[in-house]
Amino acid sequence: MSGDGVRIQKLIADAGLASRRGAERLIAEGRVTINGLPVSALGAKAMPGVDEVAVDGEAIPSPEGLRYYMFHKPAGYLTALSDGRLGRPTIAPFLEGLPVRVYPVGRLDRDVSGFLALTNDGELARRLMHPSFLVPKIYRARVKGSPGPEALELLRSGRLMIDGRPCAPAKARLLKDGEDRGWVELTLTEGRHRQVKRMLSAAGHPVLTLKRRAYAGIPLDPALAPGAIRPLSDAEVQALKRKAGL
Ligand code: URA
Repeated sequence: MSGDGVRIQKLIADAGLASRRGAERLIAEGRVTINGLPVSALGAKAMPGVDEVAVDGEAIPSPEGLRYYMFHKPAGYLTALSDGRLGRPTIAPFLEGLPVRVYPVGRLDRDVSGFLALTNDGELARRLMHPSFLVPKIYRARVKGSPGPEALELLRSGRLMIDGRPCAPAKARLLKDGEDRGWVELTLTEGRHRQVKRMLSAAGHPVLTLKRRAYAGIPLDPALAPGAIRPLSDAEVQALKRKAGL
């Protein structure tokens, strides 16, 4: 254990595992080790990249161990690593071949496909999921009926209410128009529960299928088949960090 270095509550918080306060509680509860030895002193420090800090036996990633991926989530899988007793299919099997344990940044509904970012960079994930960073997400929805100018205007207006609160104005455009089906592209900076489905239903056009085509300005790679994962490029990681103010 090093005398120099960074306070472990900061390392734990920076890894996104807990707030500073939460990290202090973990330490007080004896759940934190440095190089395998339990620590209980709040002043304890560790050298990032040298000392191994673990919570409940699991090492927190050092900056060199941070990984970032684009996952083309297929429809039909829960955005979760397990589903307890219900045992519905989750995205976990798709992540098994990765060299490190990563977590989804936010979630897509079970029946929704598209771009899901995966990382073990807890600080970045926490920021990207926080509403104050206004991270843009682009969805393509196939909807019932053919959305006319009023429906599109309503989606853009900031007047649509969900759970008694107005939705921030969305960018909305009609991509294609069928007789009883339409294809709409929506860009949202919020991430409320089932937001696209609820907005489109409220505008009179329930969603039939939904796909996330871009996240934080990064388009879903058209070469990435449903179920496939690829590392994000350095430029893409930098773009994510910029969006998150890092
Ligand atoms: N909006 C939805 O309705 N579902 C999602 O999974 C994402 C956005």
